[in-house]
Amino acid sequence: MKTVIEPYRSRVVEPLRMTTREERERYIREAGYNPFLLLAEHVLIDLVTDSGVSALSTRQWSAMHDSDESFTGSRSFERFREAVKALFGHAFVIPCHQGRAAEHLLARAVIRPGDVVFANTHFATTRENLEEEGAEVRDLPIAEALDPTSPHPFKGDINLGRLEAGIAEAGPRARMVILTVTDNSRGGQPVSLGNVRAAREICRRFGVPLWLDAARFAENCYLVKLREQGYAQKAPREIARELFSLTDGVFMSLKKDALGNTGGLITLDDPAWAEAIRARLLVSEGIPSAGGLAGRDLESLTVALGEMLDEGYLAHRVASTRRLGEQLAAAGVPVVTPFGAHAIYVNGRAFCPHLPNEQLPAWSLSVALYVHSGVRTWETGNVMQGRHDPATGAWQWPDLDLLRLAVPRRVYSQSHLDYAAEAVVELFQQRSSVRGLRFVYRPASLAQFVATFEPA
Ligand code: F0G
Repeated sequence: MKTVIEPYRSRVVEPLRMTTREERERYIREAGYNPFLLLAEHVLIDLVTDSGVSALSTRQWSAMHDSDESFTGSRSFERFREAVKALFGHAFVIPCHQGRAAEHLLARAVIRPGDVVFANTHFATTRENLEEEGAEVRDLPIAEALDPTSPHPFKGDINLGRLEAGIAEAGPRARMVILTVTDNSRGGQPVSLGNVRAAREICRRFGVPLWLDAARFAENCYLVKLREQGYAQKAPREIARELFSLTDGVFMSLKKDALGNTGGLITLDDPAWAEAIRARLLVSEGIPSAGGLAGRDLESLTVALGEMLDEGYLAHRVASTRRLGEQLAAAGVPVVTPFGAHAIYVNGRAFCPHLPNEQLPAWSLSVALYVHSGVRTWETGNVMQGRHDPATGAWQWPDLDLLRLAVPRRVYSQSHLDYAAEAVVELFQQRSSVRGLRFVYRPASLAQFVATFEPA
């Protein structure tokens, strides 16, 4: 059979609420033309993120009822720690409440002013956390990652030549190398195991630790199975074990692939770094056997560490996201290819060639799509990554200005995604009607969460 079906069925349902176009025009105006500031109940289909919004399984709910909420030393943490050790293989397991908390703890514990940190691409919060501690961060994507239509199967790879030269030049200032798997800021593109191995070899040679931002490692491993020679016969879990064995440490949000409504994790081998991170943890997050999480969160996450690597689940997820992308591509919508697993990305500048960078093409498209259909999406482009150059006073625009349709895990059916695809295609057919927006309020950092706009 060709049809790829959802490998689960619903037992609890949540009604969706329709709105009219007039209502949506009012809601988005009241939200300062920032889809992030809309009330969720004014959204029909919410593709703003895949983070913290997964539907839990019957096994997760069942484990949550059996949680241990003791202040310290709970059975729930012991189960979580054993599951993390069995999968990641590192000596120390440090829980925290979400991904950016993990980044904050790590940055506070190990970064000194002037340090240099290299990555394929730092996610926005990772960059902020490192820069706040005085680090200089350098993104080193491969050239193909900058071309939205390059067919390269692993556009998340780090540029090895630039990495080696950069570390050599930074000398003792080179603090760490981070591979974001998958590379969320550049189209959800996977990193190949060949690239991880080669990066590790360079790191070893210079004595620099190699870390992962592993928020979407399961999807990355499944794409490795599909695309990288030598992995077709391996189970996703086996590929994940190999991936982690190449690293000195991992920090991650457990709200994405790990199917958590909340949760974060640091796991590492270096005892001195672990001690420094734990010292920070005690001040800002919680005790070492909870990290600010409830016992029931830890139970839910422990079950998810198995479910997230289930091959049938991953096969469906990749197929259903690909189908969304193919519907857009078939209608001529400029999408980033190859398709990743957690989202489809639309090239805002190519969709809205009538809008200059100052009028924020992908952001304006996100607003127009909400008004047209009630579908909420998010931008990863000019608003999220645009920077003010203090030297010249001019704006620096990122190389890609993308609209992201993120697919929550186990939440929407294929017909919901078909509706979203139809909405994007309809808007594409009248694309010259998309009105540009400009900033009204722009904070110094992480603008996407709080900025407001007006029609240009
Ligand atoms: N790293 C990556 C690659 C992410 O995508 C995110 C969050 C984080 C770190 C931070 O984790 O949200 O748990 O604090 N990404 C969300 C998104 C917000 O919609 O892509 P967090």
